[in-house]
Amino acid sequence: MDNFNFQNPTRLVFGKGMIAELGTLIPEDKRIMITFGGGSVRNNGVYDQVKAALAGRDMVEFWGIEPNPSIETLRKAIALGKEKQVDFLLAVGGGSVIDGTKLISAGLCYEGDAWELVLRGSYQTTLPLGTVLTLPATGSEMNSGAVISRHETQEKYPFYSNYPVFSILDPEVTFTLPPRQIACGLADTFVHVMEQYMTTAGQSRVMDRWAEGLLSTLIEIAPLIRQHPKNYDLMADFMLTATMGLNGFVAMGVSQDWATHMIGHELTALHGLTHGATLTIVLPGTLRVLRDQKRSKLLQYGERVWGITGGTDEERIEQTIEKTEAFFRSLGLSTRLSEEGIGEETIAEIERRFNTRGVKFGEAHNVDGAMARKILEACK
Ligand code: NZQ
Ligand code: ZN
Repeated sequence: MDNFNFQNPTRLVFGKGMIAELGTLIPEDKRIMITFGGGSVRNNGVYDQVKAALAGRDMVEFWGIEPNPSIETLRKAIALGKEKQVDFLLAVGGGSVIDGTKLISAGLCYEGDAWELVLRGSYQTTLPLGTVLTLPATGSEMNSGAVISRHETQEKYPFYSNYPVFSILDPEVTFTLPPRQIACGLADTFVHVMEQYMTTAGQSRVMDRWAEGLLSTLIEIAPLIRQHPKNYDLMADFMLTATMGLNGFVAMGVSQDWATHMIGHELTALHGLTHGATLTIVLPGTLRVLRDQKRSKLLQYGERVWGITGGTDEERIEQTIEKTEAFFRSLGLSTRLSEEGIGEETIAEIERRFNTRGVKFGEAHNVDGAMARKILEACK
């Protein structure tokens, strides 16, 4: 196990009716800016609950943070926050609203254009931020990451700043999620765990078993959620699994991959494909192309998560990747580029971008432009 230094400061406030706690979670003297997406919170009572919990408080609202939050929109929020001199941010929505609000919280403490912060990759001077999560998927409610897009240039990059001081997770607010968002959220959570787990075996028994526990939970609940999307206990398990999947708890002292995500971000930037739906296409290709490097872990994952024990190592690995792909298909998501009408032009553009940027992703730092091409060719 590698050395590590771990601290996660986010207070999790979990369960039915917990949005009412907002009044005590945000200090009385704060001038609050509340940020929202496109309006789903108006239809499921979340907006009313937030307003009721903060009645009489000094606050301003910013609406319209879109899926894959863009710098173009976030600049407007930063300008409003500066004008109103807010000193606390409350993000109410999915990963996009939370991610966007992380950049706002940094941008409010920065004189220049906030896109400079995105290109820098991190900025630690921020305003405090709380969240009310409405979509289990990204883990943004309990991590310090954000992913910000620039429409003008079709770019999308990760950015690191502050952890939320608190996040309220009420599984009841997920009952209005459309089936495709649930599917993409399950897929995103699954792939987050895989990015931190599917490297090489023998690094940490405890990290491995936590990760396998999260993966097995997703495999168990996914078909049940499809049948009963308004079942509280199922959605509670989903919500907590998503949070635990990307809050650092399964990453202590182990290597991580993240190549699938970095390729996926390009597919979103170039085609607008939903984040989770990019990952179900790229991950099987990544596993196929890097099967030798990941051999020991693929065998362990196949045995412990999918119960695959028979046949030669090669047969077991092939079956394991097929099972993973079949799981994604069972969610109703594509696993091939051609299903989304994506072809050679995009592969060439991603190869070119990776080469120009000189990136080398993955636990072995070998996913460069040429390797990204190989992976994408395996996803056709
Ligand atoms: O905008 P509104 O009207 O609120 O509607 C949203 C949006 O259209 C809707 N929605 C959310 N909660 C709902 C709901 N509809 C009905 N009922 C509810 N309870 O769902 C749509 C998608 O929302 P979005 O926030 O975009 O989804 P998600 O949470 O999957 O976030 C995706 C973004 O997070 C980034 C992705 O790249 C993408 O930009 N990620 C962030 C990460 C992080 N911060 O650590 C890690 C991830 O790997 C990911 O990259
Ligand atoms: Zn993700």
